Amino acid sequence: MTPSSHGLTIIANRLPVQRVEHKDGFRWQTSPGGLVSSMIPVLRQGGRWIGWGGSHTQSLQPFRHEDIDLIPVSLQPEEVEHYYSGFSNRTLWPLFHDALRPPEFHRRWWRSYQNVNRKFAKIAAENMDPSGTCWVHDFHLQLLPSLLREQHPRAKIGFFLHIPFPPTELFAQLPWRVHLLEGMLGASLIGFQTPFGASNFRNVAERFLGAELDGDDIYYRGRKTKTGSFPISIDTESFEEMTRRPSIQAMARELRADLGGNRKILLGIDRLDYTKGIDMRLRAIETLLIANPNLAKEFVFIQVGVPSRENVPDYEELRSRIESIVGRINGRFGEPGRVPVQYLYRNLPIQSLVSYYMAADIMVITPLRDGMNLVAKEYVASKTNNEGCLILSEFTGAANEFQEALLVNPHDLDGVANTLYQAIKMGTAEGRRRMLSLRHKLHRNNVFHWSKNFLESLGELEVVRV
Ligand code: F6P
Repeated sequence: MTPSSHGLTIIANRLPVQRVEHKDGFRWQTSPGGLVSSMIPVLRQGGRWIGWGGSHTQSLQPFRHEDIDLIPVSLQPEEVEHYYSGFSNRTLWPLFHDALRPPEFHRRWWRSYQNVNRKFAKIAAENMDPSGTCWVHDFHLQLLPSLLREQHPRAKIGFFLHIPFPPTELFAQLPWRVHLLEGMLGASLIGFQTPFGASNFRNVAERFLGAELDGDDIYYRGRKTKTGSFPISIDTESFEEMTRRPSIQAMARELRADLGGNRKILLGIDRLDYTKGIDMRLRAIETLLIANPNLAKEFVFIQVGVPSRENVPDYEELRSRIESIVGRINGRFGEPGRVPVQYLYRNLPIQSLVSYYMAADIMVITPLRDGMNLVAKEYVASKTNNEGCLILSEFTGAANEFQEALLVNPHDLDGVANTLYQAIKMGTAEGRRRMLSLRHKLHRNNVFHWSKNFLESLGELEVVRV
């Protein structure tokens, strides 16, 4: 144990920082997002974050950023290709998202996934307190809990899966299903976004490992693992604070004026991922316009697609498909100087996103499958005037909490088109009633409650053999 190894150890695929190039070199910038903002205050009291620094950062030494110790894991180009782009993004990602694209099973990707998990385990085991608390995140590192447990049997090891855990019929396809389950069961506590994910996991542990179940607890090879639903959230207060900034309010006003004062603003903001249902959403807009061509004067739909995993072929193909649907809709329903769909393919700073949320009358979030969807929570947090309307897919974790949203089945084009129509025509009283109730729910569970709940549950567990 090194002198600085006390406190919490967080292990995730990526470090909580991004490398930003400038003319004299580069600097590190804290990444946006709930996980990072919730962990930073905890880690400042002592602890470290272990993760990959990104593609252009080989052989990095540990460093401190904003009072937090960061321990980089270097990945070779072949590991990035096989462990990250391959097994994580082309095997596990589609398999855990309803096989929306056929998962690919390649033994060389699996070998690389095992090796990289071992690499993370070695670095983590050297840097953590053997009887301390260690929190492993997400699908890239599902073997890690057991690998750590072998080295530090007394550690409090927690695992949280940010994406959905699939039902038995899908998980069964994975040739290495037993290894993956055994890997996760090294943890004392495994958290999922919803009770459905937790229950899917318990079912496959029973079926493929012969593990014994007792309520939320799983007994396997003399150890007990607790499972539970811990829906992640956002730093609500920081979004509310941004809506009070005059500069952000001015951006929202400008956006509204630029888009034509009286038109309703519909908004979609997503990583450009096939799980997000952006192409289906555009086709629902098209369906709406075919049935009601006059509506083209009444609304504008802004879709922001944030570039993501651009070297994975399915993502490239999706981008061209989306661009072609946008062109088709605007070609048919646009007029000089006025198009119904405005599409932006880029990263936007968080301040701009908040100004978009503030300006938007209707937020359209229609993933085909999504672990949680924090954009839905960010939109609700930014509606401090209690106005606005959220259309939300039933297949998101957020729908479990946000029952007052207009819930839709994103595969049902007519159903989504009807809900879009209902939202455009909705009276202010109904909108307010729904938004107030969504905001009330959001305030009950911010990201600090989430991390506190998980860490307290982990802390209460005794690390015992049964
Ligand atoms: O939701 C899963 C997740 O891995 C997030 O943690 C991350 O922000 C997002 O997908 C994008 O992931 P990547 O690290 O592949 O860019």
